[in-house]
Amino acid sequence: MIKDWESRFAPTIRSYEGYPIGKTLKYLADPEIISLAGGLPSPDVFPRAESRAASQLALEKDIDRIMQYSPIPGEAALFEALRAFLARDGIHLERENILVTTSGQHGLDLVGRLFLEPGDPVLVDRPTFAGALVAFQMQKPRFVGVDIQADGSDVEAMAGSLARLRDEGRKPKFIYVVPDFQNPTGITMSLPKRERLLDLAYEHDVPVVEDSPYRDLRYRGETIPALFALDQERGGGQVVGLYTFSKIFCPGMRVGFNIGPKDVIARMTCIKEGNILNTPKYNQDLCTAFLEDMDLEAHILRCRDYYREKLNLFLAAMEEHFPTGSGVSWTVPEGGLFLWVSLPGEIDTAELFFDAIECKVAFVPGEQFYGESPAKNHLRINFSYVPKDQLVEAVRRLAGCIRKR
Ligand SMILES: Cc1ncc(COP(=O)(O)O)c(C=O)c1O
Repeated sequence: MIKDWESRFAPTIRSYEGYPIGKTLKYLADPEIISLAGGLPSPDVFPRAESRAASQLALEKDIDRIMQYSPIPGEAALFEALRAFLARDGIHLERENILVTTSGQHGLDLVGRLFLEPGDPVLVDRPTFAGALVAFQMQKPRFVGVDIQADGSDVEAMAGSLARLRDEGRKPKFIYVVPDFQNPTGITMSLPKRERLLDLAYEHDVPVVEDSPYRDLRYRGETIPALFALDQERGGGQVVGLYTFSKIFCPGMRVGFNIGPKDVIARMTCIKEGNILNTPKYNQDLCTAFLEDMDLEAHILRCRDYYREKLNLFLAAMEEHFPTGSGVSWTVPEGGLFLWVSLPGEIDTAELFFDAIECKVAFVPGEQFYGESPAKNHLRINFSYVPKDQLVEAVRRLAGCIRKR
């Protein structure tokens, strides 16, 4: 019997601990806890009826192919639906520019495996999506953090980091951003910042990875062009785009896609071959039906109306119950599923988490969203999942527990 497995693990994986959020889930088992922690969309807007109809049709029409292996890059019908989906956003691509993924986390994993080696610098926002950090961490890169401001990444700080790295003779493998309603802050990057980010990417010859799960979930304000579209206007080839249908359809389906230059997509397809082979055809057929047979725009409007109401309820309750004028502030997102609360510097939200559990409410401590030098006094709130009639109570409980600190 092998006693010491640890020493046999690959060095890059030995200290790898996976998703920190996962470790907090065990505290949420108590059904009285109102959880604002997970990034879950609401089942209230799942396309349930469409899913039943599409499932039945797919199984009746094509059960043998559904039960078979399917093409690694993705199903032909889904490609066509994806091209139309992207064209809504002014992005026009050929099939070879698209790879179907088994959702957003898989898309991130492919990016990490394709580009990163231990020690490679990667520019990420401070804070940024914890799942991206976890995916990239498998390759042990060096995260170089850039603070996020009310209108997106601090691009001038980014310019400074890029210049410093150039002086060291290093070039980041890529810049990772979530420009629309970022997870965890809900912040959206302004158009001038998107343009400046691309200027920097060209100047320093660095790819940009744009992760866009929330782009369609805008509740107010004007849509801002995707970095991918802006790059295409300038000739293209600098941006890799990551999409998932988890937030606008349902996460259980596990379908997403990556877009980018043909060489990049071809190599990601080879990696997909080695890691999961193909995305289940059944899931892809469901996704194609949602995109083509359902009234997509009506569905998205329904999601927007539903989440807007929840966000407004949540914000109004925070205005009423949260302590103000005492170093407590929060973001007011224009879309997405999250907002970010900042507390006075001396409050450690990893400790506050346990007070909150006592008060029967949960959130994600902000420290989990930093690639380096985590700030301790922030927390992430998900407002999309909790039933409407519990939202105000959740805010009341959280406010009470912050006041006690
Ligand atoms: C920014 C971002 N990227 C990727 C993902 C992963 O998406 P999926 O659940 O489809 O794997 C998420 C999920 O929360 C996310 O917020």
